[in-house]
Amino acid sequence: MPKILVTGGLGYIGSHTVVELLNDGFEVAIIDDLSNSERFVLDRIEEITGKKPDFFEFDLKDQERTNQFFAENKVDGVIHFAASKAVGESMVKPLIYYRNNLVGLLNLLDAAKDHHIDNIIFSSSCTVYGQADELPIDEKAPIKKAESSYGKTKQMGEEILEDFARVFDKKIIALRYFNPIGAHPSALIGELPKGVPNNLIPFITQTAAGIREQLSVFGDDYPTRDGTAIRDYIYVMDLANAHVKGLKRLLADENVDQYEIYNLGTGTGSTVLEVIQAFEEASGTKLNYKIVDRRPGDITAAYADNTKAAKELGWTPETSLEESLRTAWEWQKTLD
Ligand code: WQD
Repeated sequence: MPKILVTGGLGYIGSHTVVELLNDGFEVAIIDDLSNSERFVLDRIEEITGKKPDFFEFDLKDQERTNQFFAENKVDGVIHFAASKAVGESMVKPLIYYRNNLVGLLNLLDAAKDHHIDNIIFSSSCTVYGQADELPIDEKAPIKKAESSYGKTKQMGEEILEDFARVFDKKIIALRYFNPIGAHPSALIGELPKGVPNNLIPFITQTAAGIREQLSVFGDDYPTRDGTAIRDYIYVMDLANAHVKGLKRLLADENVDQYEIYNLGTGTGSTVLEVIQAFEEASGTKLNYKIVDRRPGDITAAYADNTKAAKELGWTPETSLEESLRTAWEWQKTLD
């Protein structure tokens, strides 16, 4: 079976995707600089799958080390997750985000060109749409100027990849995630936010675990059914499965264009209060929360039109919000 490089493969979505790749019979090599991940995840991947991927600890910003990897390791494709991803942090540290997310990508692409790597999957985000004019959001929705430096690095990354695919005859898929949530059913891997979580679900599970005092709901004056903002919460294993399906499309030369884009969401939007209620039902615990002001930069609503991924990747998310939240809670309970 082909060997796949997964950059950021010890991170949240990366580690779940590595599990799916190994279970599907692929060989996997991971590059991760451990700047936002933990080494024990490698052992957990082996515990889940019975297979241990090759692991290389270095930073893609080190061009010489990146080239050396490709000179010494033949791979048939790359799934590129390695990037900084905290929206709030990117607003106060823009240069770190541009350097890490763009120099890392450019070094990877230079090496892919020099070592004839033709198949690339890129981790992108629905944040590139900003507040879309129409819902649900399909891949033809206009790209709006991102609010955050993080979002801008995703938009720029997509532009870079589109040109790279055209000029160097590559096959590239950008996957635009909506809101990834949950953990592997084994509760051996899951989300490991550093410090105070930015995202809703880890803040909810940490509040339920008593690590956080109270969840702040950022605004209940949005023009939505209950006043709180709407997002499309997609189970991380369904998301991982989409990466395997995208990769197989490229390896089998089934892609229609050199550069293709897919929205990965459930197609259903949930408000923050609906998520809280679903979590309380899934966990059997009451959540302590209060309504506060809106968070600057937040949009009112986003949920995916995922018919293109269904039709072209044969991908349909199967996991309910409540089941996804249950896995997040089971994982949280394993953390001290
Ligand atoms: C979800 C909803 C908040 C925290 C971002 C990025 C996206 C991806 C996911 C990286 C919003 C509300 C949140 C809290 C709250 N990141 N909320 N209290 O902002 O939709 O998306 O993270 O890949 O690219 O844009 O996710 O989880 O921060 O917020 O009320 O303590 O929960 O206002 O409505 P977001 P989120």
